[in-house]
Amino acid sequence: MSQDALKVAAAERALTFVEPGMSLGLGTGSTTAKFVEALGRKVAAGLDVTCVATSEATEAQARSLGIRMSTLEETPFLDLVIDGADEIDGNLRLIKGGGGALLREKIVATTSARMIVIADASKKVDTLGAFPLPLEVVSFGLTATQNMITALAGDVGCEGEIRLRLRPDGQPLLTDGGNLILDCHFGRIEEPEELDEALKLIPGVIENGLFLGIADLAIIAGDDGISIIGSEDDDFDE
Ligand code: 5RP
Repeated sequence: MSQDALKVAAAERALTFVEPGMSLGLGTGSTTAKFVEALGRKVAAGLDVTCVATSEATEAQARSLGIRMSTLEETPFLDLVIDGADEIDGNLRLIKGGGGALLREKIVATTSARMIVIADASKKVDTLGAFPLPLEVVSFGLTATQNMITALAGDVGCEGEIRLRLRPDGQPLLTDGGNLILDCHFGRIEEPEELDEALKLIPGVIENGLFLGIADLAIIAGDDGISIIGSEDDDFDE
């Protein structure tokens, strides 16, 4: 199966968790886009849901499909968020932010009763870190922030190049919130919780792409079918 078809398969399984009347968070990225497409078809057929997007791109896609959109101000508690990931380990720990939306994604995920991650099998890893860890940072004091990241990440065994993410035209990429992204090429992150704690100490780092203890379920589509990490039976209210 093509990678695209695997993304569709994961997205369609996620749709089975959506119930009428739910408030949904919509993630960002090519896998989530498949979910939004499928959700749009259900909405056109009469499904009643209210959604909050994690990026301007997802917002535009969902609106174009006639999905009713809200904001976190109007709808501050969500039943379920569906989002993709750049890496998923066996303990439902994630790296996210490949699409530059990690801050809004984390805000939406943490105000949702449940987070379901959808991905093709290439995203499943034993140890996080082969995918460069994205950090959303403020532009003020960028070099000082970068130096602090090097020092504090180094203290917890994470070393590697830190690169400012650029757009194709060579200019710094700005997030939907107007911030910058630093991609940290640490390689293996043996202790993600320790790295997360260290990064939280740095004032210029607004948020990092480690999602720890946030996802409840991962739906991973591979050539041999769908595999699930987490329990499909968990109650939404837990
Ligand atoms: C965006 C994200 C995406 O969920 C992640 O990059 C996966 O994207 P894709 O489904 O295109 O592989 O975290 O910030």
